[in-house]
Amino acid sequence: MFLVTSKAVVALLFCSSFTLAAVEEENFKNPVCVQIGASISSSSDVYYPGHPLYIKGVSHWASSSSQVAKCVVEPGTATDIGIILGILGKNRTPFAVKGGGHATNPTYSSTTGVHISIYRFSKVLYNKGSQTADIGAGLIWDDVYAALEPYGVNVVGGRVSGVGVAGVILGGGYSWKTNQHGLIVDTVTAFELVKPDGKVVTVTKASDSRLFSGLKGIVTKFTMRTFPQTKVWGGMILVGTENIAKVTAATAAFSSKVTDPKAGLITAYNFGLASSPFQDFRNPQISLLLFYDGPNPPRGIFDAFMTIPSLLNDVSTKTFASLIKGFPTDSTLDNRSIFCSLSVLSLTPSFLNAVLNETNYWGAKLTPKSGAFISYATEPFLPSIYSHNKDSTAFPPVRSKGFLPVNIFYSWTNRAFDEEFYKAARASATALSNAAKAEGQSVLGLPVYPNYAMFDTPLENMYGSNLPTLRSLKSQVDPQNVMALAGGWKF
Ligand SMILES: Cc1cc2nc3c(=O)[nH]c(=O)nc-3n(C[C@H](O)[C@H](O)[C@H](O)COP(=O)(O)OP(=O)(O)OC[C@H]3O[C@@H](n4cnc5c(N)ncnc54)[C@H](O)[C@@H]3O)c2cc1C
Ligand SMILES: *[C@@H]1O[C@H](CO)[C@@H](O)[C@H](O)[C@H]1NC(C)=O
Ligand SMILES: *[C@@H]1O[C@H](CO)[C@@H](O)[C@H](O)[C@H]1NC(C)=O
Repeated sequence: MFLVTSKAVVALLFCSSFTLAAVEEENFKNPVCVQIGASISSSSDVYYPGHPLYIKGVSHWASSSSQVAKCVVEPGTATDIGIILGILGKNRTPFAVKGGGHATNPTYSSTTGVHISIYRFSKVLYNKGSQTADIGAGLIWDDVYAALEPYGVNVVGGRVSGVGVAGVILGGGYSWKTNQHGLIVDTVTAFELVKPDGKVVTVTKASDSRLFSGLKGIVTKFTMRTFPQTKVWGGMILVGTENIAKVTAATAAFSSKVTDPKAGLITAYNFGLASSPFQDFRNPQISLLLFYDGPNPPRGIFDAFMTIPSLLNDVSTKTFASLIKGFPTDSTLDNRSIFCSLSVLSLTPSFLNAVLNETNYWGAKLTPKSGAFISYATEPFLPSIYSHNKDSTAFPPVRSKGFLPVNIFYSWTNRAFDEEFYKAARASATALSNAAKAEGQSVLGLPVYPNYAMFDTPLENMYGSNLPTLRSLKSQVDPQNVMALAGGWKF
């Protein structure tokens, strides 16, 4: 995986308009980077272009999310992050904070200034007494699950391999265990936070309820509730074009009938599955991710899916960590990518058919424009998922409606087509919202999930009535506008 990532950035360095700048940089060390290097402790390091850890630092899941930074800083202590933020704020130097690097919005965790990668915050500490785990913000979920497995416990975290702990939690977070325990952020009991003024604080509901619900700064550690973990049942099923109608019927039935909170499903309508041995660039296919939080699901929940003729089926009883490892998403590395999202109230057959139509329509239209892969993920959850937390969190602003995120994912290779793909994603999200409306769903004003939302999504659409509080919190905690020098949603 790392080799492929390196290729992406080497390509970026040598094939892009940055080439000259990058070559000049090699013999010239940016003064802010030098100042940081001279000010931090021996637990931290600064890497310049040409160093392998520089390449690792600036790399992302999608190549369109990477930029050529002046240097990569790998801080090893929260105190050092405070020092670094002080220097960046004083010099007004643009910077990036990267966790797992899975942001699909360009510039959200990349910069042409100082790139901070937080890999070194990588400890997992299980506290049996309090049934919580301290989790380093630089980890990916795979490593968290593997570290907790020997204790027979788990946290509520990401659903596929490679995704970062920090970004998922800070956006809200949908998990295989969300039906049972709520959003991922709902299970966090404390954050270790470096505030924009450089101070390191532990934020809990009791210590500062406003900051707890709308963080500002760089998180170094999450304390999360743990839950007992047995073996699980699940895996991936690929279904060819001729059986899509059966998948649609089974997904709609699952969505409206299954009430067992241990059962989870993602039905993705795909076009151009280049990495699959069953590749078919002209016709849509389905990938199903099935999950049951126990060694065997009761009869009746997944039978309809298991009997559909498939191209591949690796569903079995396994450990949670190996289930996640079996949901790899490396195949799009080296490609440009974007997510775009909408929310609906139910996954009816007619809505799912509109999703299939969008997959066909845009698949055919975008494949000639260097399109590599198109995927519409529908994610049935129970309507009760937002009721597990009585406290307010930045997202979602509304907890009374059981809205479901729909994720549109486009991937392509040629940057000349960036705008076309962004435009198509917007149009497709609107078409799907209209399809839901046309069948009587009141989708107007349903919050859009920030971690799936495209960069130009209005803040109101994600944070709704929480926006005034979040804005006043921002001006109170970050009066010098330090975090505005980094990417991400701007309050
Ligand atoms: C293949 C794939 C699978 C996904 N699966 C899921 C899923 O199952 N559930 C789900 O809810 N979402 C999922 N997502 C969406 C995911 O939540 C976002 O992509 C998320 O931003 C990724 O977090 P990251 O740490 O990997 O990304 P990064 O790109 O490192 O960071 C994302 C954002 O968080 C900020 N950030 C990172 N670290 C910190 C920190 N320590 N302190 C403050 N800010 C920080 C960054 O600056 C950036 O703005 C998936 C995305 C992909 C590409
Ligand atoms: C783009 O992604 C596909 C899989 O979706 C992969 O097979 C292909 O190699 C990628 N192309 C590039 C240039 O990275
Ligand atoms: C399919 O989608 C396209 C693009 O959104 C739209 O123009 C067309 O009307 C849709 N067709 C059907 C049958 O829904």
